[in-house]
Formats: sequence, C-alpha cells, structure tokens
Amino acid sequence: MMAAADIARIGEQLAGLDKPGGPAIWDTRIDACPARAADPAMVEHIRHQALLRAYQSRYVLLPSEGPGDTVERLRRRYDPKALVQVEAARGQLEDELITPSIEAARAAAQGRDWATYSEALVGAVRQAPESAFTAFLRTSALAADHYRNFLLQSSADLLAEASASALGVVGEFGPAQSALFRILIDEFGYGAHDRKHAVLYRPLMTAFGLPDEYNACWSLFDTPALRLHNTIHCLFQNPRHLFLQVGFLLHAETSYQRSTRDHFRYLSEAFPAVDARYFGEHAHIDLHHTRMVIEEVAAPLVAAHGPEVGFEIVAGAELTRQAFAETGAQMLALSRAFEAAVGDGRAAGRAPSFERLDAAVTPAGAAGLPNHARVQVGGLGVVEAAVFAGFPSGAFGRVLEGAA
Ligand SMILES: [Fe+2]
Ligand SMILES: [Fe+2]
Repeated sequence: MMAAADIARIGEQLAGLDKPGGPAIWDTRIDACPARAADPAMVEHIRHQALLRAYQSRYVLLPSEGPGDTVERLRRRYDPKALVQVEAARGQLEDELITPSIEAARAAAQGRDWATYSEALVGAVRQAPESAFTAFLRTSALAADHYRNFLLQSSADLLAEASASALGVVGEFGPAQSALFRILIDEFGYGAHDRKHAVLYRPLMTAFGLPDEYNACWSLFDTPALRLHNTIHCLFQNPRHLFLQVGFLLHAETSYQRSTRDHFRYLSEAFPAVDARYFGEHAHIDLHHTRMVIEEVAAPLVAAHGPEVGFEIVAGAELTRQAFAETGAQMLALSRAFEAAVGDGRAAGRAPSFERLDAAVTPAGAAGLPNHARVQVGGLGVVEAAVFAGFPSGAFGRVLEGAA
C-alpha cells in the first residue's frame, strides 16, 4: 500500500502546477493525506484523487476564458518534469485501487461466449424496469437536490465526455479502430461544438445551480464517483486493456441507451423547463453505438484474434456493470440517508457555495468535529456533522466555513 507520506509528496508537487486561486480546470491539488490509521476512508479517497489527477494530466484542459497568461500557465500545468511523481505512482495506484476488480471480472468472464453474452445483455437492458434512481426521484420531495448531486458526481467524466475513451482510439489496429473512431466523432458532436456531448451536459449543470466548467465541482466528488471514473480511465489509458475497453463500450453504450431514456422522460415530466437534449440525444444515438460495438468492433476483433479476446470483452463489460451498479447503489443509499436527515430537521437541501467549502471530511472523520459544525455533502446540501458521521461508506463532504 502506498504510504501516506508518498501521497503527501505527490500532493505537494501537484499543488505547484498552477498559481493559487487560478481557474478550477487547472487546479491540480489533492487533499492533505492523514496518517492511514487515522481515517482509512479519507486515505482511500485521496489516493483516488491522486490517480484521477494523473489521468487528467494526460489530455488538454483549457479554461473557457484565459486568465491572461495562458501560454505560460499551460506550459507549467503540463510540465512533464513536474508531473514525474504522480506519473510514477500511477501504476501502483492502479494496482491497489482498480486491478483487483479487473481480476475479479476476468475470473467471472473466463470461458464465456461474448456473442451469447452481448445478446443477453441487450435483451435484459431493453426489458429492465425503470432505473432505481429515477424511480426513487418520483417519490421524493427533495428530487432537485438528489438530481443536483447525481449531475455533480457524474460531471467528473461527462463534462469531458469521451476524452477518456479517445485515448483508446489512437494507434494502428485494423478495421475495428475505424469503427471506434466513428463512435468517437459522434461523442464529439461530429465536429459541431454545440452538439458535442460534453457541451450538451453543461445546461443540465446550470439548470440545477451548478458551475458548468470541467472540474469546477472537484472538491465535492465523492469516493464512489472518483472510483468509477478512475476505473474508466484505467482501461482507456492502458493500451494493454484494449479488449477490456471494448467490453466497457459494449456495456456502457447498451445500458446508456436505456438509462438516458429514463432520465429524458423523468426530466420532461418533473422539470420540463430543463434543457435535456443531452439525454434525448443519447437515447437515440446509443442504439447505433451498441450495434456498432457488437458488429464492427467486437465481432471482427474476436474473429481475427481468437476466443480469449471474447473473454476479455466479457470481463470489461462485467467490470463496467459492477462499477456502475456499485456507484448507483451508493448514490441511492446516500440520497436516502440525506432525506432521512432532512426529515429529522438536521439537514437542508441546497446548491453548494464553493467559496465556503473548507476541510475534507468522511463520516468517520465527522465524529470528531464540534457540535456546531456543518458539512456540505456533494450536491445534496448541508447536514449536521454528527448526522454525517452515520452516513454510508464512500460519503464525502466539506466542512462549511462559518457554519454555526
Ligand atoms: Fe455520449
Ligand atoms: Fe455513445
């Protein structure tokens, strides 16, 4: 296990990449790492922060408006010599945080026929009932708060949607590569900026009171969100995981065609003024993407390289199914805990005031906070620290400055 002191050293190097107070998109800081015994959940959270910073340092990020010295700061932000420590730690962090899940998925996939698997997957997704999250929202008086948190946690990936998977498309690997490239250009709006999926996601953020710049909500990403997005990056930023990447796309495109339809319908009914084109576009185009992944990517790769490739594709899909299921269950558990706290008069739903957010805190850490302390939990709202101490594992928040 990487020592807390090593994570702290990475944090010091990352903190120097941009000037303090700069654009959030260039803010590479991670939280201060406590001694492991003090709060293992916090240490795990910060290891995930370091890993996501490593991944984010491998593609271009620019603020919407330059701070005035963009050339100089871009050179500094992406200086390979200043990224040495986090880059060197990447493989070990992946082995500690992600590889065990990959190995478990491989064990579950061994010997399974990818074509039978994908046929069953498509059928099951189409027949599945409405997603547990949107079904829950229909029963909740705090639906806007829960939805805000869903958008915030998902923004870790979706405000730069397909930047992770783009890294799996470069190179030279035959006809499947060209099919993947066609999917990728759809994700990028076919070159029309206002149709790029990451851009379509922005009005959802602002409609629910959130900033729409990539990484602007970084300080409130919880551990399940970091874990999910690190899992995706781990696949696509490692060429050796090519066939797992295909499995990810198989599951993601298939399940997205269904989940985005649920979200589109839900928003149209509950929040009809919200611009939900992001979901409407996916409900349509991911039908095509699913077919393309099956027919033009998976099938020719297995035909050319043998059945072991099919096992990897199933493993990638199973890894993805498991990762999304875990994240979804944790978000639902968190939403329920928050709703109960509001019912007890000990929490209030509200959009985060980012300038008031202070020290990071997990439920275990909250037990030691003073009575008057309040914690902002993701995009949900503010809860008494003593109540946050009983929140489910993976919950993460920030002490609210000046809360008395
Ligand atoms: Fe997309
Ligand atoms: Fe897609």
